[in-house]
Amino acid sequence: MDIDIVPLSSTQLRPVPVNGHGFGSVFSNRMFTQEYSEEEGWHNAEIGAYHSIELAPSTAVLHYGQAIFEGTKAYRRPDGDINLFRPWENMRRFNQSAQRMAMPQVDEEDHLNAILKLIELEQAWVPDAPGALYIRPVMIATDEALGVHASSRYLHYVIVGPVGSYFREGFNPIPVFISDHYVRAVVGGIGAAKTSGNYAASMLVGREAKEKGYSQVLWLDGVHRRYVEEVGAMNICFVYEGQQIVTPALSGSILPGVTRKSIITLGRDLGYEVREARIDVHEMLADIAAGKITEVFGCGTAAVIAPVGKFGYKGKEYIINDYQTGPVSRHLYKELTDLQYGHVPDPYGWTLRLPVNAAEPVF
Ligand SMILES: Cc1ncc(COP(=O)(O)O)c(C=O)c1O
Repeated sequence: MDIDIVPLSSTQLRPVPVNGHGFGSVFSNRMFTQEYSEEEGWHNAEIGAYHSIELAPSTAVLHYGQAIFEGTKAYRRPDGDINLFRPWENMRRFNQSAQRMAMPQVDEEDHLNAILKLIELEQAWVPDAPGALYIRPVMIATDEALGVHASSRYLHYVIVGPVGSYFREGFNPIPVFISDHYVRAVVGGIGAAKTSGNYAASMLVGREAKEKGYSQVLWLDGVHRRYVEEVGAMNICFVYEGQQIVTPALSGSILPGVTRKSIITLGRDLGYEVREARIDVHEMLADIAAGKITEVFGCGTAAVIAPVGKFGYKGKEYIINDYQTGPVSRHLYKELTDLQYGHVPDPYGWTLRLPVNAAEPVF
C-alpha cells in the first residue's frame, strides 16, 4: 500500500500537551485514512491532518451500526524507542470483527505499516511511562442509502492520542455491579466482535450501576444469566488462594482480549495455575464469601489490570480481599507493564520495537 503523506501547515501542528491527559480526549496532529469501494477495493491511503469527517445523514453506519474498532498502545521504552505490544493480534481481531459484521478485510501487514508510519510521524506524542499513546483503528460503513444491507463503501481510519490512567481510581480496586437483568451479548450474536453495538448495549446498565455507586458492570451470559463473561470493557480473572487464576473460557459471546491471552501465558510462566472455565456466578460469590477467592481483576489494554474491590448482586455486597489490591494483581501488572515498556527483555516476541527516527521497525 502506498500512503500519501500530506504535509501539515503550521496552524495544524499543535504542540504536544504536557502531562495530565486522562483517557481518550486528546488526539495527535495526524490521522491515517483509506477508503473502500467494491469497484476499487482499498484506495486513497493517506496520512494527513487530524480532521472531522463529513457524513451525509443517510450514511449507513449512522443507521445500522456497521462499525468496528480496535485499541492498542505504543509505549515509550527507557532508551527512548517505542514498543507496540502484540499489534498483530489487534490486526487479526480487526479482520475477525470485520468478517462478523460483513465488512471488507484489511491487509494486516498494510494496516500495521500504516500505524507504524503514523507513530513514526507522531513519535513526540508518545508519553513516558506510565502513560502511553493509545491507537484507535476504526472502520465504518459509508453507503449513503437507507434499506438494511451490507454497505458497499467503507472508511478505515486510525487516530492516536496520549493517555494516562483509564480509571479515576488509578490502580485501586473498583466496585462492580453484577447485571442480573440486562446482558451484553449472546452466543451467535456479536459479542466476540469489537463492534460499536456491543458498547451501546452496555450504556444503560453502566449508568444504572454508576447511580448505585458502582463504576463497572459484570456481564453474565445471555441465555442463563448465570455464567460470568466480562467486566465492563475488560475480560475478568479470579484468583483462588493466591495461586490459581481462573478466567471464563471464550464462549463465543466474550471478546478475546489480548491482555487476557497474555496473562494466561505469563501467569503460567510465573508459576500460577491458570484455567479457563465456565464460572457460575453463585459459586463465584460463595467462594468470595468463603474467602477462597482472594483477588478478582479485570484485564484489558486500557487499564492493563483493574482490581475489583467488591461485587453488588441482587442487593447484597461481596467484598474481595478487604477492598485492597492483592499481590497477584500487582505481580501480573508489573510483569506485563515491564514487558510492554521494554523494562525487561521480551522472551515471547510480543513487542515490536520502533526505533525513534528510524523508518524500519525492528521485529
Ligand atoms: C468488551 C471488551 N472485552 C475485553 C477487552 C480487553 O481486550 P484487550 O485486552 O485486547 O484490550 C476489551 C478491550 O478491548 C473490550 O472492549
